[in-house]
Amino acid sequence: MPAIVVVGVQWGDEGKGKVVDYLASKSDFVVRYQGGNNAGHTIVFDNKTFAMHLVPSGVFLPGVQNVIGNGVVVDPKALRSEVELLESKGIRVRGRLHVSLSAHVILPYHIILDGLREESGHGIGTTRRGIGPCYEDKVARVGVRVADYLEPETFKVLVDQNLRLRACDLEKVKPLAQVREEVFAEYASLRKFLKPFCGDTPSLLETALRARKRVLLESAQGAMLDVDFGTYPFVTSSNPIAGGACAGAGIGPMAVSGVVGVTKAYTTRVGLGPFPTEIEGRTAAYLRQVGKEYGATTGRPRRIGWLDLVQLRAALRVNGVSALAMMKLDTLANVHPIKVATAYKVGGKRVAEFPISRAGQLDAEPVYETFPGFSGDLTGVRTFAGLPKAAQDYVLAMEELLKTPIPIVSVGQDREQTISRGKGIIWP
Ligand code: IMO
Ligand code: MG
Repeated sequence: MPAIVVVGVQWGDEGKGKVVDYLASKSDFVVRYQGGNNAGHTIVFDNKTFAMHLVPSGVFLPGVQNVIGNGVVVDPKALRSEVELLESKGIRVRGRLHVSLSAHVILPYHIILDGLREESGHGIGTTRRGIGPCYEDKVARVGVRVADYLEPETFKVLVDQNLRLRACDLEKVKPLAQVREEVFAEYASLRKFLKPFCGDTPSLLETALRARKRVLLESAQGAMLDVDFGTYPFVTSSNPIAGGACAGAGIGPMAVSGVVGVTKAYTTRVGLGPFPTEIEGRTAAYLRQVGKEYGATTGRPRRIGWLDLVQLRAALRVNGVSALAMMKLDTLANVHPIKVATAYKVGGKRVAEFPISRAGQLDAEPVYETFPGFSGDLTGVRTFAGLPKAAQDYVLAMEELLKTPIPIVSVGQDREQTISRGKGIIWP
């Protein structure tokens, strides 16, 4: 019963969408298991660039079925825009997208609350899509699930209850009656749109796995944004790590036969919070420009830094990563020399592990090892041997230092711009 998890092992934006799209050609199902439309998965298809936020990255391959699992928070309005956009480009979505009846629904008041929190002076730089407040409702056991959304009476009762619960905050922005009106304004038409996609997705996946179909589980965000293992409190409100895949898709852990971690050849982060290897100045500006490092969801310039092996080792551990995909090696070309953090200094002491305390994370000062850079345009290279020697050596050194194979190296956004090293490492 082969299921493979594809996870980000940095702070998101690693290139998970491209890796999923690449592996999806050999898969039958792609499942999103957490997060919501805070994700921005950029995929180049037919020479057009698509930034997907909710629809799984398998949608570009006609033979693939796509599932939005129970662990995802679904904004019906965002989903409709995305489906309409795909359909307007000739990509069939109906009959190929299945939304879990147990997924929670993001409603307009979640977005208001997210904004309020961000403006309160305690912001963490969220995407303001209502993700955090929707998960809060889920855990507080007052959330609205897709199944509840589809039942008009249940929906009404839950919304009224929640508006009363949140009245104190919401009324700072506008009268409650107006907030209520906004919730119900498009509700009936969105419900009609959503209904045909909804179903019992664990049953669907059970049938698929029993029939030995190949299932890819797609994370959003990354290990360092994980609510348990990330740089708390500067994290998202779910578990992107591989362990979250079973809970967020409704499958058992024995179904998972591999975990593919996705990392850039350097590091980026959007939003606030610790980032030990962050750099500013010319190299950062260069990588941001060449790598088009601007958020796919919010357009914010991404913070830039060197690859961080202390952070990566922590992420590989909590995900149980069996293989790595290294993205954007082409972007790192023409940077001389390349630095990689191999340890930190915290409070003047050398440490090998990512600090757990907030103070330790902020205080962490990277200890760098230097690697020779490489020059030229890598975007046309299709074999590992075709890469400049120093680029090969960089990948091999990371493989060695992380004790994890790197069978996929990416040198551009297109599906074709992918170097595959060694067959059979990904799928059993
Ligand atoms: P993909 O799937 C990068 C960050 C936000 C913020 C924190 C919490 O494209 O990798 P949230 O809106 O989730 O409550 O914000 O998490 N964040 C992301 N950063 N890529 C993403 O998704 C992200 N999703 C959330 O910037 O720091
Ligand atoms: Mg993103």
